[in-house]
Amino acid sequence: PASKCYNIASIPADGIGPEVVEAAIVVLKQLSETLGSFTIDFKHYNWSSETYKKTGKYIPDGGLDELKKHDAILFGAVGAPDVPDHISLWGLRLAICQPFQQYANVRPTKVFKGTQSPLRNCKVGDLDWVIIRENSEGEYAGQGGRSHRGRAWESATEVSVFTRHGVERIMRFAFETAQKRPRKLLTLVTKSNAQRNGMVLWDEVAVIVAKDFPDVTVDKMLVDAMTCRMVLKPESLDTIVATNLHADILSDLAAALAGSIGIAPTSNLDPTRENPSMFEPIHGSAFDITGKGISNPVATFWTSAEMLAWLGEDDASKKLLDAVERVCEKGIVTADLGGKASTVEVTNAVVEEIKSSY
Ligand code: NAI
Ligand code: MG
Repeated sequence: PASKCYNIASIPADGIGPEVVEAAIVVLKQLSETLGSFTIDFKHYNWSSETYKKTGKYIPDGGLDELKKHDAILFGAVGAPDVPDHISLWGLRLAICQPFQQYANVRPTKVFKGTQSPLRNCKVGDLDWVIIRENSEGEYAGQGGRSHRGRAWESATEVSVFTRHGVERIMRFAFETAQKRPRKLLTLVTKSNAQRNGMVLWDEVAVIVAKDFPDVTVDKMLVDAMTCRMVLKPESLDTIVATNLHADILSDLAAALAGSIGIAPTSNLDPTRENPSMFEPIHGSAFDITGKGISNPVATFWTSAEMLAWLGEDDASKKLLDAVERVCEKGIVTADLGGKASTVEVTNAVVEEIKSSY
């Protein structure tokens, strides 16, 4: 009999979000049924740009207290053509990440078997990274303002905030992540040549935290040079830590180098475990393909596997990701990976793979 039951909040939200979250729920239910070691209960929240347009709010009053009762959150994507992106992002996604102090954003990337990197010489195993993004402050701290709106002398500031507390906790998390991986290699991304305050604090704190991890090798890269290294020497990297903005950009590059944004997952973690963590695909709501049934569900499958690992179900997590990889290897992939399969066909193939292998 199943021993554990996990309560997951699902927030599919906008665009292709509902398509990929639905696919992930089908696969997770099959996995729990086949393995029989745990069950998963989903509670759905229809918070989206539609609710925003009707009520003026993405999250209703008391919504966060509701959310807090769950073991984890499975998130789709937020963003609609007729709502400004800064409203949707701050209204839903950041409105969860920030109060829940999900300060560690983890973005694993690798070339899957059966998928191809756009890099000519990059094979399976050559690109296998985990990017750790600071997720609570930095360039996205939300500080700044605008004055003299609409005038020729209008000015706007976007203030980056780096606190010793914030930098130290993300560094510690990054070193711990690097230490758990076989290569024990951490690349510290910075821009302390041009940004001489926040980024210098960032570097200094890294040196202090490094003392507690003598077995981890650290190397330091300026963010601009980092883009070249990612493209030219992907095999030279393993775990990467960067600020909110830098890692936002580098992780999209990473996803593209691995083959498609349609496979890349991300976890927004509160490592203190005081609040639930949130798991989502990296991609957005993709209006251009919404409703066509062709969105790639693999990113959401992978983030579901990350969610299982975070809940302590390491074996189930590995089995899920292995099943997904075997389906890709068979060539059952969506158009973004060069295939012809629909979202439902990929989902059914993963379900069959789970049924037949475990
Ligand atoms: P996007 O990720 O939605 O789409 C970029 C391109 O990738 C599109 O051509 C799309 O069709 C393709 N794509 C994305 N996911 C795919 C999948 N699973 N399978 C196949 N193809 C896929 O980024 P875009 O167009 O910049 O943003 C659209 C909306 O999404 C905006 O409102 C934006 O603010 C929002 N957004 C939300 C995010 C979130 O909720 N975490 C993240 C990124 C964007
Ligand atoms: Mg991004």
